[in-house]
Amino acid sequence: MVNTANTATAAKVIPFKAQLGAEVHCGDLRELDDDTFKAIRRASLDHLVLLIRGQSLNDDELVAFGRRFGELAAAAPVHIGQKPRERPEIAIISNVIENGMAIGGLGDGEAVWHSDSSFTPVPPTVSILHALELPPSGGGTGFANMYRALETMPTDLLKRIAGKTIKADLRYTSGGQLRPGYTGQEDIREAPGPSHPIIRKHEESGHHALYLGRRPYSYINGLSLDESEALLDAVWAHATKPEFTWHHQWQLGDVLIWDNRCCMHRRDAFDPKSRRIMHRTQCKGVPIVATTAQELAQLQPHPRAA
Ligand code: SIN
Repeated sequence: MVNTANTATAAKVIPFKAQLGAEVHCGDLRELDDDTFKAIRRASLDHLVLLIRGQSLNDDELVAFGRRFGELAAAAPVHIGQKPRERPEIAIISNVIENGMAIGGLGDGEAVWHSDSSFTPVPPTVSILHALELPPSGGGTGFANMYRALETMPTDLLKRIAGKTIKADLRYTSGGQLRPGYTGQEDIREAPGPSHPIIRKHEESGHHALYLGRRPYSYINGLSLDESEALLDAVWAHATKPEFTWHHQWQLGDVLIWDNRCCMHRRDAFDPKSRRIMHRTQCKGVPIVATTAQELAQLQPHPRAA
């Protein structure tokens, strides 16, 4: 256990026995002093994902906590046709239907590995998810360390992706719904959506990470469709190896904070007859910086996995 400050409210950071993630004991998130918040922010850079249990935040309080990490993004609705949101900084992740209308997005199915909103030009940095209602089982959320995935990538695979960019297809939402105006038959190379470097520099930690976005609806620029699919399959098979991951089983009141710049996440399916309600806020992104060939040749591993 690392006591990151000497004050009575100091954050105690307890790393998980995995290649990322830590639980933080810091008391009520509504009452954090600046030193304790600084310790949490540092821990987020050091551990990539943080779990803080036993919170009870309303939306104003979740937004206030999120703002301590940076300016918040006004996220697009997660689900097309969902109930209009009351405030733009809060996304509702839920399978609950009220009066025939989904209150949020992502339903009850599995959400496959991804980093949030990679289909936007400047994807969010930090995401914060708060558990308000949970199914009796299932619906756990897994995380994978993308620093580690890069640092351990076989040389031949690394050479094949070095300097390349991935196009993220904007036609589909996070939940895989086709946005209005598209048929899904369009060639992904012509479809709308930003391209991001496959290997990026984390502008705060200074370390380098694999940045894949999501597996469906993506394309490696400059390759044929078949070559792109084959290379993406190989890279994803490596990036999602169990040894890079940690899996969370939620308890009510949990807050998870993760860094989309250097980790991916996925969500297990759960019983459609049960309810799951999570509120999420996210910090606005910063333009993604590509790792240079020289930086790649002199990669300094991020210390967390060690
Ligand atoms: C997400 O994929 O962003 C949501 C994760 C979750 O519902 O646990």
